Amino acid sequence: MMGPPGSGKGTQSARIAEHFRVPHLSTGALFRAALENDPESDVAKAAAVITNGGLVDDSVVMDVVAAVLTEYDCNVVLDGFPRTTHQADLFEHWLFSVGRQIDKVVFLHVPNDELVERLGARRTCKACGYIASLRLEDADTGIPCPRCGEDLYRREDDRPTAISRRLAIYESLTAPLLAKYIATGQLLSIDGTQSPDGVFKNICDSITNQI
Ligand code: AP5
Ligand code: MG
Repeated sequence: MMGPPGSGKGTQSARIAEHFRVPHLSTGALFRAALENDPESDVAKAAAVITNGGLVDDSVVMDVVAAVLTEYDCNVVLDGFPRTTHQADLFEHWLFSVGRQIDKVVFLHVPNDELVERLGARRTCKACGYIASLRLEDADTGIPCPRCGEDLYRREDDRPTAISRRLAIYESLTAPLLAKYIATGQLLSIDGTQSPDGVFKNICDSITNQI
């Protein structure tokens, strides 16, 4: 799943994973979990940059993804990886070495003003990972997660300065990857401004039409 911060990668990856019964690997969620649960680990130390909206070192990300994917002998929804051309190259070499491949790259297109509004209104559940929206649901900090009843929180990198930095990094380092996946015929471009149900239907239709 590719797209700028707030485009709905996490929301749609969770739905795809549930619908197609495949694991969902979010590199962002993995780094947040390392910072929360194992702050002295090497991965957490490398992930400290995410609080201010920076990117984790490419080779650290590749090692983490490879370690997780090695555990799975099945399709996996990758959410937020690769996000630099160097990561894409490292990943291509790794996939080749293990005889696996990327099937499709789903790109969610959403304009910047909508992204900023979404990120300001997002709340996340630390317990179950549910992604809520103050705009889509009657949710706020202090009220329970609609799915599991635990508290919702605001991500550190959803502060305005970190949001601006993430959007700028996306434009300069991640967006150039789109051309690569257009050229290989792997890119499925989806209008991410529809309702979450509408986006999900479009993704499912595009994926199944291509299989
Ligand atoms: P990551 O967690 O991946 O953050 P991100 O890419 O900035 O994307 P977000 O999670 O903010 O947004 P999303 O697209 O998942 O949208 P969501 O579904 O939540 O990465 C965090 C950090 O980790 C990075 O900045 C970096 O530091 C590091 N990192 C991760 N991967 C890395 C890598 N490969 N290399 C290096 N560093 C890496 O939706 C957003 C909001 O909108 C929610 O409130 C949701 O409810 C709402 N919403 C969703 N869909 C809709 C819709 N259709 N209509 C209206 N609202 C919607
Ligand atoms: Mg996400």
